[in-house]
Amino acid sequence: KNPVRIAPSLLAADFTRLGAEVAAIEKAGADWLHLDIMDGHFVPNISFGPGLIKALRPLSAMPFDVHLMIAPADPYLAAFAEAGADWISLHPEAGPHLHRSLQTIRALGKKAGVVLNPATPIAHVAEVIDLLDLVLVMSVNPGFGGQSFIRSQLQKIAALKALIGDRDIRLEVDGGVTTETAPLCVEAGADVLVAGTAVFAKPDYATAIAGLRGC
Ligand code: DX5
Ligand code: ZN
Repeated sequence: KNPVRIAPSLLAADFTRLGAEVAAIEKAGADWLHLDIMDGHFVPNISFGPGLIKALRPLSAMPFDVHLMIAPADPYLAAFAEAGADWISLHPEAGPHLHRSLQTIRALGKKAGVVLNPATPIAHVAEVIDLLDLVLVMSVNPGFGGQSFIRSQLQKIAALKALIGDRDIRLEVDGGVTTETAPLCVEAGADVLVAGTAVFAKPDYATAIAGLRGC
């Protein structure tokens, strides 16, 4: 069983002091930094792009986990790789050729992931499983932080865990992860937990991260 990794989402950080926020969560025990890229088209919100990732990259040793909520994604994969992403994940709905997009990410030397919206079936994963390093399950509809966890996604996590078997593929959950929902995700088979408000809205990041990890 993989150790549970905590990936705070920068979307919930104080945007006036992002460098300090990244340093603070790293010191507080965060394992990965989750970066939500939104284009105002694939999702109804706009966040930030590769320029911000490039600026933050020298400040941190954490793996950068880039969640693309953009369509099309293909024209930007190289830019995110060059900016310093370690993991790049995209939604199957972002383009007609998921398999090719994952091949492109791997060819750029990065870890490749697929993201499933709450209504997206797991069938996509089976078709491309040999190209995957990560499956990300959305437990909210993407676009905003601070939403409520959609419980039906726990069954999806369990089904994906069974599908992944003993392959070297991380199973990540994103949206509404709190100290209440984190243990349910881990129980179902998740090994990476994204948390925005459950870390950045708390006064003490180390306590928040340890609480999500379950220790
Ligand atoms: C939603 C993003 C999430 C979001 C999570 O579109 O993909 O990563 O930042 O925020 P919380 O943890 O507050 O639900
Ligand atoms: Zn995300």
